[in-house]
Amino acid sequence: MDAIPIRAARRGDVPSLLLLWAAMVEENARLDPRLAVHPDAKEHMARTLAGWVDDPHRVVLVAEEHGRLVVGFAAGQVLAGNGLQAPARLGEVTDCYVVPARRRRGAGRRLAARLLDLLAEKGAEAVRLQVVAKNAAAQAFWTSAGWEPLEEVLEKPVAKGAPPAATSRP
Ligand SMILES: CC(C)(COP(=O)(O)OP(=O)(O)OC[C@H]1O[C@@H](n2cnc3c(N)ncnc32)[C@H](O)[C@@H]1OP(=O)(O)O)[C@@H](O)C(=O)NCCC(=O)NCCS
Repeated sequence: MDAIPIRAARRGDVPSLLLLWAAMVEENARLDPRLAVHPDAKEHMARTLAGWVDDPHRVVLVAEEHGRLVVGFAAGQVLAGNGLQAPARLGEVTDCYVVPARRRRGAGRRLAARLLDLLAEKGAEAVRLQVVAKNAAAQAFWTSAGWEPLEEVLEKPVAKGAPPAATSRP
């Protein structure tokens, strides 16, 4: 089976990118309802994705089958480091998604590898990403490509109506 070609996203891809982004967040919200997005998020994201495609600090790639059907995408950016730790310029993978019907054919790995190369070309000294703790497939995907855990994000719900924590007085 031929590899699905990867190319830089264009303005005309924004409607497809939006559909893929919505499918990605819905999939992760099914795994963990805390990740459900706001009903207005899609509208906001349509504008955001259009901005990403034109932003020289960002990379947006699509996997396009038969020259017309976008079946996956990956996006990232390069930011200044926090000034306290190396690296001085840090890449971030913000998104990586392949439609379920086209998974396990190497498209995700090729999207991620190309993204990493382009972020390195833009000056990234290291690249980070966040992966959903309950998404075992995504965890396995990144681990299989040599990514290693750095920090964990912990969350605890706050009881509604709980009194504010006591503050100590001098
Ligand atoms: C994660 C994701 C992008 C992988 O895309 P993909 O095109 O299926 O990935 P690949 O075919 O390139 O897989 C490469 C390797 O990753 C690992 N992998 C991928 N999916 C896996 C799964 N479901 N279970 C176990 N390992 C998996 C395997 O080692 C695989 O190599 P193999 O097929 O030779 O065994 C895709 O599953 C996806 O879009 N998931 C939902 C969105 C998401 O969670 N994205 C990550 C955001 S951080």
